[in-house]
Amino acid sequence: MPTDTAPTRSHFNAARLRSHTWDQLKLAASSLNEGRGDPADVEGLLKDLLTIELYWAYPGRTTVKRLQQMLKGREYHTLTQSANHVVRNLSSGAFRSDPVALADPFAPPHVLLENEQEAKQLNYFETLFVDELNEAEEQALKVRLHQCRDRNDPFIYDPIVVRTVQDALVALLFNHNIQAVVVRYGMPYKSDHHKGILREFTRAIDDLDLSDRGQANMGPLLARIMKWFRPEVDRYYVTDTPVTGLKDSTLKNFRRIFYRTEDLNELHMTIMRGIQEKYDTPFFTALKEYSKRPMGVFHAMPISRGNSVFKSRWIQDFGEFYGRNLFLAETSATTGGLDSLLQPTGPLKKAQELAARAFGSQYTFFATNGTSTTNKIVVQALVEPGDIVLIDRDCHKSHHYGMVLSGAYPVYLHSYPLPKYSMYGAVPLEHIREQLLLLRKGAKLDRVKMLLLTNATFDGVVYNVERVMEQTLALKPDIVFLWDEAWWAFAGFSYILRQRTAMHVAAKLARKYRTPEYKAEYAAHIKGLKKGEEPRLPDPEKVRIRVYATQSTHKTLTSFRQGSMIHIWDEDFKKKSESSFHEAYMTHTSTSANYQILASMDVGRRQVEFEGYELVEKAIELGLLLRRTIRENERLKKWFDIITIGDLIPDQYRQSGIDGYYRKDKGWNDIERAWAEDDFAVDPTKINLYTGKTGIDGDTFKNVYLMDKHGIQINKTSRNSVLFMTNIGTTRGSLAYLTKVLLQIADELEERNAGFEHADKRMHVARIRALTDPLLQPSLPDFSRFHSSFQGQPGVPGGDLRSAYFLSYKEERCVHIKLHDALTMLGMKHELVSASFVIPYPPGFPVLVPGQVINEEIINFLLAIDVKEIHGYRPELGLRVFTDAALGRQRTGTAIGGMKARKK
Ligand SMILES: Cc1ncc(COP(=O)(O)O)c(C=O)c1O
Repeated sequence: MPTDTAPTRSHFNAARLRSHTWDQLKLAASSLNEGRGDPADVEGLLKDLLTIELYWAYPGRTTVKRLQQMLKGREYHTLTQSANHVVRNLSSGAFRSDPVALADPFAPPHVLLENEQEAKQLNYFETLFVDELNEAEEQALKVRLHQCRDRNDPFIYDPIVVRTVQDALVALLFNHNIQAVVVRYGMPYKSDHHKGILREFTRAIDDLDLSDRGQANMGPLLARIMKWFRPEVDRYYVTDTPVTGLKDSTLKNFRRIFYRTEDLNELHMTIMRGIQEKYDTPFFTALKEYSKRPMGVFHAMPISRGNSVFKSRWIQDFGEFYGRNLFLAETSATTGGLDSLLQPTGPLKKAQELAARAFGSQYTFFATNGTSTTNKIVVQALVEPGDIVLIDRDCHKSHHYGMVLSGAYPVYLHSYPLPKYSMYGAVPLEHIREQLLLLRKGAKLDRVKMLLLTNATFDGVVYNVERVMEQTLALKPDIVFLWDEAWWAFAGFSYILRQRTAMHVAAKLARKYRTPEYKAEYAAHIKGLKKGEEPRLPDPEKVRIRVYATQSTHKTLTSFRQGSMIHIWDEDFKKKSESSFHEAYMTHTSTSANYQILASMDVGRRQVEFEGYELVEKAIELGLLLRRTIRENERLKKWFDIITIGDLIPDQYRQSGIDGYYRKDKGWNDIERAWAEDDFAVDPTKINLYTGKTGIDGDTFKNVYLMDKHGIQINKTSRNSVLFMTNIGTTRGSLAYLTKVLLQIADELEERNAGFEHADKRMHVARIRALTDPLLQPSLPDFSRFHSSFQGQPGVPGGDLRSAYFLSYKEERCVHIKLHDALTMLGMKHELVSASFVIPYPPGFPVLVPGQVINEEIINFLLAIDVKEIHGYRPELGLRVFTDAALGRQRTGTAIGGMKARKK
């Protein structure tokens, strides 16, 4: 029976605890009604719900109190029915808008107005009032707010009243329906409600004990903390202080200030206006309006308005499949209410500004051909030929091509290896600093322009973005950061994950470095350095915050394929990079940008502003739940292992010591602490499943077992693992299906093994060994080095990738060499230099780039991997390498281009 000492850690979050407690109530009430249960059980549950429901408008505390009265009056039948109603209403979400919900004896407080009962789905939210009202005043406020409602209001809300700052924070943390907060000046801080049953979920708030700050400052303080937790929620302040007496920060942190004497109607309309502003989707709306207008098309695009489709006798099915609206919205027009992506001045400009607000950037640019392109845009915009870029070698191939395009000299950084899984982790900070110091020693630091890292990596390893930026800026205060957040667009909508996003950290550091406190901290830091020790804090007089992030909106948020955004937080953008950015953007942007993709990004932005907090938390929860299911199910754990945080991140990078999100004995772990302290964290929505024990390699498991047999689609594999991802569209149902499929596969494997004869069994054991023995895993080769012809400067990292790339354009400068012949030549001390990129999938990054010296490790890796797809390598021809002549070398008996090599 849940009481104050209930093991609440068995629930991932308070929302789950809440729905579980309501479910328990339903069962306990039903037992009671059937003469079996114990009233004390129901009483305990209702006591917990009275605490929990303080933070929700529906069903809220009034309902719980009525249920308590029913219990007291032994009205068990009504109690059971009422609990059932509430549970049904909560799980369906019907209380938000469905007129049928009105039949409920516990109808939501926002009784729908007459014509709204017709409406299928109203947009519902909750407004939090932080005010020391007594019960009668609270009731009066609710009645007066209800009177403010107009039947034409596009949205509907219920008020919730809490009386302390701490309760307000708990409400914001738990209740994703809250979209607006009205804070009364001078609130008390401390609450007792968040102790007891909710204590496991309020750690983030308990850590912020601010009770000594003085009651008068609590309103503005709450606004500041809210900005951190839930920046998308509108904040309003009710005070008596005249505007002239308010601090700038107070004016900045609230959307609007109200005075006690002001009309409640005005407040109501302002709340509605705030919601409307987030709801607006300028480009999507413009496109919808455009598609409704009668239009004669005397321009390109026969498909526009479906003209070439619906009149056709042969492609009707195409039209039917996509529906008429898609074609009505297809146009090449940039006028008539629409806009041009190349020079936006209307709805597209506005849509990008709204995205900048939502994603916390100074500027946001949309792109319609993926992060493959936005990466190239940013690199080309910021880097000139000969500039040096520190770049993780296992980054997406678009960056390597970006180096070729821009003429930058890449200094390839090494991620720590995870040999057991044939994977890489991410680049340790000390390695980045070492490279910078080497470049400084070689008098090249002034040419260093950019640090380019992937966050999160495909496998879900997440950098400590703040630590990396701070300690890199300490050595190179004007470096530009490009964070490839292709997989990380959703992270900005969880307060835990947001701490490790480029835009959040950029804004935070820019603020921090301008404060007198930081200047003092820096001075003390420099003074405290021992001889030979390098600074770890940047010089506040020199540091510039220049941060770019590219996000594949389509990968993790609502957007059609290829929707990508560039977010910029650059103090020097206007002064130094706006023109070059514009040129690079023009270079890569189509003059016929796809409007459907652009509209979907506009709508995707609206969605995350309203629902991001809820949906991302759900995606995280489902990711953690899947891990737990696989780790705890006897049948599943016989065949599969979850690759844990401890497996993905070596001890020295996990200062918190936390090695897993969930432990059977301890429940959900302190994820907040790991995310705040550790050098690397693991994205909880990425679940790496180790398949080694099945004897099936990752690729076969993906294609044969998951896709062909069960229609489950995944993307990434390694030699002995597959990667599952949860996202804002994942449901508990889809998770249940995946679990069912894994159980089915487990059964199939049992059957397979039972049928093994001796020889089969021996082969099977050998296969398992090949996949699981760390010594038998082909070791991922590090970047060797650039050949001396392409080295920027001997002894200094970095090389001229672009020259090598273009040198290979003439066929006579290149030959092909088979892998075994290459090994022989290397044995004869012959230097082989790659003329092309060689990219095996998996792992999906180049093991060779043009100009790179080939070594035995690389050849052995290529010989050992059994993948079918290797871009830039044709097995029948071999590796493409430069001839001696191309490299300006003397010919010898084993000259390349002479004896062994075979011309194409
Ligand atoms: C790290 C990284 N960056 C960029 C990209 C390219 O993104 P897009 O598919 O949006 O072109 C990918 C694609 O998988 C990726 O993994």
